[in-house]
Amino acid sequence: MMDRSEYIEFILDHYNNPRNHGEMQDPDILVNGGNPGCGDVVTMYVKVDEIDRVVDAMFEGHGCTISMAGASLITEMVKGKTLEEIQEMPYTPLIDQMGEDVVKSRLRCAILGMDTLKGGAREYPSRKATGQKLI
Ligand code: FES
Repeated sequence: MMDRSEYIEFILDHYNNPRNHGEMQDPDILVNGGNPGCGDVVTMYVKVDEIDRVVDAMFEGHGCTISMAGASLITEMVKGKTLEEIQEMPYTPLIDQMGEDVVKSRLRCAILGMDTLKGGAREYPSRKATGQKLI
């Protein structure tokens, strides 16, 4: 259990040193998301294996500290999960890692990356069937 300042430090570290940041070459999923309320945007990239399990996840975007930290964090959390598991993932583990108290008034920011990724995971089977990657 971390205290509030440690959660803030954790968030700032993800913002300043984003994990898995950049454009992925030849992704299986490329999905854009945004928060219309503020104009912040995120692009999530995923590569999956033959049983639709995530072998790599990356992101790019422009946004507030919490949205970018959340996107960075979720790229770490989804590795090894299947796309079905991602669709069913609750928000709580992400929120808890960022500190519920710190992000509770900014939930839409915190889950921007995760929600975008969930959308990509949901759409993937039908996109795969038609050979489309861009969502
Ligand atoms: Fe836009 Fe946080 S203020 S996602």
